Amino acid sequence: MQTTNVRTTHAPRDLFLGTLLGSLCLFVTACRGGTASGTTLEARSVSPAWTALAPAAAPGRPLVIAHRGASGHRPEHTLAAYALAVEQGADFIEPDLVSTRDSVLVARHENEIGGTTDVATRFPARKTRKVIDGDTVEGWFTEDFTLAELKTLRARERLPFRSQVYNGQFAIPTFDEVLALADSLGRQRGRAVGVYPETKHPSYHRQIGLPLEERLLAALRRHGLDRRDAPVFIQSFEDGNLRALRGMTRVPLVYLIGAGRLDAARLREIASFADAVGLNQRMLVGADSSARPSTVVQDAKAAGLRVHVWTLRPEPAFLAKRYGGDPAAEVRELVGLGVDGFFTDFPDLTVGALRGLGLN
Ligand code: G3P
Ligand code: CA
Repeated sequence: MQTTNVRTTHAPRDLFLGTLLGSLCLFVTACRGGTASGTTLEARSVSPAWTALAPAAAPGRPLVIAHRGASGHRPEHTLAAYALAVEQGADFIEPDLVSTRDSVLVARHENEIGGTTDVATRFPARKTRKVIDGDTVEGWFTEDFTLAELKTLRARERLPFRSQVYNGQFAIPTFDEVLALADSLGRQRGRAVGVYPETKHPSYHRQIGLPLEERLLAALRRHGLDRRDAPVFIQSFEDGNLRALRGMTRVPLVYLIGAGRLDAARLREIASFADAVGLNQRMLVGADSSARPSTVVQDAKAAGLRVHVWTLRPEPAFLAKRYGGDPAAEVRELVGLGVDGFFTDFPDLTVGALRGLGLN
């Protein structure tokens, strides 16, 4: 089991009831974009008590991490997508984090937001071109907009083969709003709702004077979550900022890797600054039915690292042929390899597949 190491103390009932109504109002308002005036929802001072609730996952059951929320069902990185994920049984919700021009962390998969919002129609003249981490990217960038401006936008589904019916309904949430939602839903359900933030393009953000790390940790502290046993993982594809974060927080850190071989020496090095690796599932087993699994899970565990994999998606564009169209077969194989957690666009399917294995 993943060791978020939470205690089973329950939040006081009056604390729970007292905040639930306010939190629900906050959630509905933010989901529907009620903060179009641009003022971020005020970060509330949250008692750490809620984070001491027991997690959903029973011992031995891999974690279910809602990838950009229940992004198979709702536009990614919206409060609606995160809330549905929790309803479907996800243990963690995953916000990818980028910065606004006025230094507010918001949840978007990348700083270019042309594909996931209506920015092209709202701010056509603000299109530009930039070099980000060596790639030339054309579009609209969060760091060029204030939070007030971003709050006037509405999210849309990026993938054409997924439902478009929720386009135009939901605002871009701030990281504070995501943490407040996790707090609210955790209290409501009597279990910890974990948060698994990813720093996106951290070197780039630092270069342009909008570093992510300090503000991420400040937000966690405001919500009582900057602790070793908080239901939080911080993830990054860059090892530089994870090494820096290792000296700034005791929250578990996850190094993301998309491809390649990891030998024992490299895994030991990673273990010096991270607690887990987040691997593309193709690093564990190839897509073809004849592919034999690698030993990366056992090698990582020998180095003291937990292993989370990304991303479970059932559609033919994503699901490997070796599973014959059955997404539960992928879960079964990866559980058999010893995976500790799954990033999934469809928490309902992943929770169902784990239940099918007797893992509740
Ligand atoms: O963070 C794990 C996984 O989400 C990495 O991929 O590109 O979806 O952020 P991405
Ligand atoms: Ca991510």
